[in-house]
Amino acid sequence: MKRVTVTGSKEYDIIIDRGLMKDVGRYAAEVVNPGKCAVITDDTVESLFAETVTESLKTAGFDPFMIVIPHGESSKNGEQFFRIMSIMAQQKLTRSDTVFALGGGVVGDLAGFSAASYMRGIHLVQIPTTLLAMVDSSVGGKTAIDLPEGKNLVGAFYQPDLVICDLAAADSLPEEVFADGSAEIIKYGMICDAELLGMLKDPIEGQLEEIVARCVSIKRDIVNEDERDTGIRQLLNFGHTPAHGIEKLSGYTIPHGHAVAIGMAMMTRACRPEFAQKLEKLIRSHGLPIETEFSPEQLIDAALSDKKRTGGSITLVLPDTYGTCILKKMQIEEIVPYFQKTKREV
Ligand code: GLY
Repeated sequence: MKRVTVTGSKEYDIIIDRGLMKDVGRYAAEVVNPGKCAVITDDTVESLFAETVTESLKTAGFDPFMIVIPHGESSKNGEQFFRIMSIMAQQKLTRSDTVFALGGGVVGDLAGFSAASYMRGIHLVQIPTTLLAMVDSSVGGKTAIDLPEGKNLVGAFYQPDLVICDLAAADSLPEEVFADGSAEIIKYGMICDAELLGMLKDPIEGQLEEIVARCVSIKRDIVNEDERDTGIRQLLNFGHTPAHGIEKLSGYTIPHGHAVAIGMAMMTRACRPEFAQKLEKLIRSHGLPIETEFSPEQLIDAALSDKKRTGGSITLVLPDTYGTCILKKMQIEEIVPYFQKTKREV
């Protein structure tokens, strides 16, 4: 077992091990009141882990009820959010009670925003079940829902009380969903950990605990320094500005990690062509794409409605070496050259 402690505005642990689902109640009871609790999950994860988690909660003295949403990004909306609010009110959840977010990034964001909003904030335990949620979205307190106008446009910074990361959940992931997490892992390597990039020459499965702990430790260090995303935390957005455009233009049929992989490849081709092929090879070896059919104009247009824009400027994350990135704040019209290389050079 590995334990990583985040010490920002709120201190909490990320517990990483195999087989933790059956111990969720025991670990949660160490940090929150074992009372009434909502377990928010999706219809895929429900059949895999809901019973084990609710039994574990009951054994530890919790009184759980389930809220199940349809799986997929299209559930991260106002309708599901208000449905959750109403169910929690009907169940008479109080300010001292807890939301358990059992699922991937969509569940984590939606359940996290629900916990942040209900009665102006109740306890939150994140139980990530996808690789992407384990290494990235369950940690650091970003919660949100999407609007038709763009992804994550309504949300809050809201730190969990605990993150319980059962590595065994990654075993049952479809290849494509596992690959989404691999993209975020490559991102950590690219922004600050060349050694991690070296480890990624071998399959992630055989070094899962070490890699997850390494990624969340990087994220911990970054979030401890810049929880509100006004400085160094923006490094975690490497590849994300084009990615959010790609996701939006595809009607969210291209998943987040796949879009991030394309975005990282695009930025690297534009800034550091000398190691673009090396990165492309690594990305492809993890079952991820490196090209998009969307035009630079479409991607730029979509990027300009992204919330990473601040007034007339935008901060892009640009690769510097193979294992470090820099932040560059620029005027909107200056981003054009960075969005040109949507395809690999032949
Ligand atoms: N996923 C990027 C962040 O948490 O800042």
